[in-house]
Amino acid sequence: MSYAWWQRGVVYQIYPRSFRDSNGDGIGDLRGILERLDYCVSLGIDAVWLAPVFASPMADFGYDVSDYTNIHPMFGTLPLFDELLLEVKKRGLKLILDYVPNHTSDQHPWFRESRGSQDNPKRDWYLWHDPAADGGPPNNWLSNFGGSAWQFDERTGQYYYHAFLKEQPDLNWRNPQVRAAMHDVLRFWLRRGVDGFRVDVLWNLIKDDQWRDNPPNPAYQPGQPPHHNQIPLYTSDRPEMRQIVAGLRRVTDEFADRILIGEIYLPVERLVAYYGSNLDGVQLPFNFQLLQSAWDARGIARLIDEYEGKLPPGGWPNWVLGNHDNPRILSRVGVSQARVAAMLLLTLRGTPTMYYGDEIGMDNVPIPPGRVQDPFEKNVPGLGLGRDPCRTPMQWDGSANAGFSVAEPWLPVSDDYTEVNVQSEDADRQSILALYRWLLTLRRSHPALSVGKYEPVATTGHLLAFVREAQGQRLLVALNFGADPYELSLDSISSTARVLLSTHLDREPGTPIQGLGLRGNEGVIAELSGVCCGGLK
Ligand code: GLC
Repeated sequence: MSYAWWQRGVVYQIYPRSFRDSNGDGIGDLRGILERLDYCVSLGIDAVWLAPVFASPMADFGYDVSDYTNIHPMFGTLPLFDELLLEVKKRGLKLILDYVPNHTSDQHPWFRESRGSQDNPKRDWYLWHDPAADGGPPNNWLSNFGGSAWQFDERTGQYYYHAFLKEQPDLNWRNPQVRAAMHDVLRFWLRRGVDGFRVDVLWNLIKDDQWRDNPPNPAYQPGQPPHHNQIPLYTSDRPEMRQIVAGLRRVTDEFADRILIGEIYLPVERLVAYYGSNLDGVQLPFNFQLLQSAWDARGIARLIDEYEGKLPPGGWPNWVLGNHDNPRILSRVGVSQARVAAMLLLTLRGTPTMYYGDEIGMDNVPIPPGRVQDPFEKNVPGLGLGRDPCRTPMQWDGSANAGFSVAEPWLPVSDDYTEVNVQSEDADRQSILALYRWLLTLRRSHPALSVGKYEPVATTGHLLAFVREAQGQRLLVALNFGADPYELSLDSISSTARVLLSTHLDREPGTPIQGLGLRGNEGVIAELSGVCCGGLK
């Protein structure tokens, strides 16, 4: 059986504003990324995904695109992008771009035309609607970033819909011209040689054509984002999405070996629909369950089983531990469990996506009120919803600004940067960075970990354990989510076993073991051999 690169490989997300600033303006850029590609190689990842680097007024830090086929001058130029792509390829890596199809910037020429007059040929490229009888918004739809999702346009007397900021008007994906234009955006980058796209808010592209009100959400809790007050029945995950996704897939399939990864926050039973009924959807609908679930061995064991059980035949799993919209894993599980989380991410069946900085143990960084950048936090303050804390500059070394920039960075650098940085962790054989490198090396050298079968091992309490198996090779992964030791009997699993890796990085690889005595907060990968005695469960 052969596997595609995106099935075997590991994706590494870079948030370009915060990775490395090469020109001293305090904001990361493409040359900065280019200069740190060898670091990516040294980690052992396979593909780099860049959050948007396109022309944009930056109202939502690049998720408001004003030209889909050009690079923002702050990040570089198109020729520099081509150079970066070439250097990525030279190193045997893949490059994935962000594709933002749901909305453009209000400064995009399409929207400028569209808002010109009610009879403008591009009017229908966006979602315009007459006011309600009382002059208010056409219906009750809410913006994900607070308030009504409708913005009144004085000049033409209608409202336009924006699922996010008013500077991010939603495109009308029912319009064939919009579909064609956005398909051409994909082709533009695919022809240049990019290996695929992460598709922004994919499940939101189509809205109800009868503009029905969303129902209230009886489960809403104060403190949740205001738009959770409604069930987004008519604004997301609409039945027409199937064809839209299949259309995107057909375009990427015009080119060999490319991938679509969908950003989709939905319950698993709906999420898996985005694989498509004949796997004609996206190859990887992002699985965010590890970002959203309590850090509890039993709960996570259950969700893995459910997810595995609900995947369509041939649907390839994937796992995400961090991204630019959610609190960093370290801030959620603490230092003691961050290593267990790393081992879980890189040993589960399916493509893992890592988030820059997690590999050195970067934490959420508190942002002083005067330095808040995120429009979500500015619109909906005080609920802790802001995303700046997980977007702070990469910590390269102990010099000023953590070696990210010679200038004051756009977001503050973490206070812990003199210890938590690439340079000092490079020199420490037991650092979390060393652990990530070991895990990625093992994953690369052991097909059982990258493409093998997944079989749960029955455990209790704070232990999560499973076996990965391929080509006769069987690896046990045992993760102690608790602070107390845990004795795992191997009697029913294997006659002999030897340790390959501990999250503590202090066990001699190859040491034979009888039972597995795990210390608190320890995870271990062990190679099993001999006849399996009593089955796994
Ligand atoms: C996605 C992005 C997020 C952005 C939003 C609007 O959720 O990940 O950062 O703000 O879409 O484009």
